[in-house]
Amino acid sequence: MDTESSTTPAPLLEVKDLRTYFYTRSGTGRAVDGVSFTLKQGESLGLLGESGCGKSMTSLSILRLVPRPAGRIVSGQVLFRGRDLLRISEQDMRRVRGKEIAMILQDPLSTLNPVFTIGNQVAEPLRVHGVVSRSRLWERVSKLLSLVRIPAPESRLKDYPHQFSGGMRQRVVGATAIAAGPRLLIADEPTTSLDVTIQAQYLRLLKELQRESNLSIIYITHDLATLARICDRVAVMYAGKIVEQLTVEALFERPAHPYTEALLQSVPRMDRKVHRFASIEGSPPVVYDLPPGCAFAPRCPKAMDICRSESPPATRIGADHHVSCWLHEKDEHESHAAGSQERQ
Ligand SMILES: Nc1ncnc2c1ncn2[C@@H]1O[C@H](COP(=O)(O)OP(=O)(O)O)[C@@H](O)[C@H]1O
Ligand SMILES: [Mg+2]
Repeated sequence: MDTESSTTPAPLLEVKDLRTYFYTRSGTGRAVDGVSFTLKQGESLGLLGESGCGKSMTSLSILRLVPRPAGRIVSGQVLFRGRDLLRISEQDMRRVRGKEIAMILQDPLSTLNPVFTIGNQVAEPLRVHGVVSRSRLWERVSKLLSLVRIPAPESRLKDYPHQFSGGMRQRVVGATAIAAGPRLLIADEPTTSLDVTIQAQYLRLLKELQRESNLSIIYITHDLATLARICDRVAVMYAGKIVEQLTVEALFERPAHPYTEALLQSVPRMDRKVHRFASIEGSPPVVYDLPPGCAFAPRCPKAMDICRSESPPATRIGADHHVSCWLHEKDEHESHAAGSQERQ
């Protein structure tokens, strides 16, 4: 495991206190409410949480694709290779999308257009971003297809999506996403619509791509088994906030937030996929009507008085382990002391 040291390279992505709100007739919805995390090159971070907790809006904010006009990024920084993406022009942002940061959406199979050939669809990002010369375009497309394990790719360039199996189409989408050589791939629950075999193949593919091109991944899911296979670290989200950040090992061995514990308890077997966390009492919060204090308090079996009135700060409780929960607040002073010792 990595140890924090002065030789640690600067993070690829640093999200700082990001806030994205929706302004609607029913009020202001704090979809993303002060989210901060960092991601190193080659690292994969899982965003975990129930539906509606702000996972998609966090990733769409990074790409500045929040639905308008209701949605707005109201504050924060998205430092990508040191540059704040929230402060660059729309034209520069278009160059970042697809070229430096690629995104695979919720239903990857529908991403392919049935009326264009496979070859043309993989070539598209290469053309748009002018990644290779025209003379080398098809060579590059074939190479990308072979990278995602499409057999005899040269002979398949003129095929249409319907001539490919579901698993192969999935891999073509993977090829399209990495075509322009992005450093960061954001995958928003890309496996939910797939059958289990294809899903497993797809996760293997992502892992391979990550190894081969040192890709960083933000993987959005509510499926713990998938997360365990793909991610190094996890950010657990609840009501627009990251309530706990930790390594995948720590997630399964020593979750600290009662919400994280509840997520783990709601999965009887790690190899089974769950869509809902049925065993957590109460309903997920509506970000338009948040209670004061910790948003999880109304559902939390361990809630204390303070939880219902004040929002808990993020506390460092171990190397690479942060939690926002009053139960751990007494550790905060100790970890602050530890932190100042480290700096000396
Ligand atoms: N188009 C929209 N208009 C208004 N509110 C929205 C819209 N999209 C999302 N939201 C609000 O933002 C919250 C977070 O949404 P989202 O990031 O999509 O959740 P997740 O991806 O975790 O399921 C939702 O709970 C919802 O209240
Ligand atoms: Mg979503």
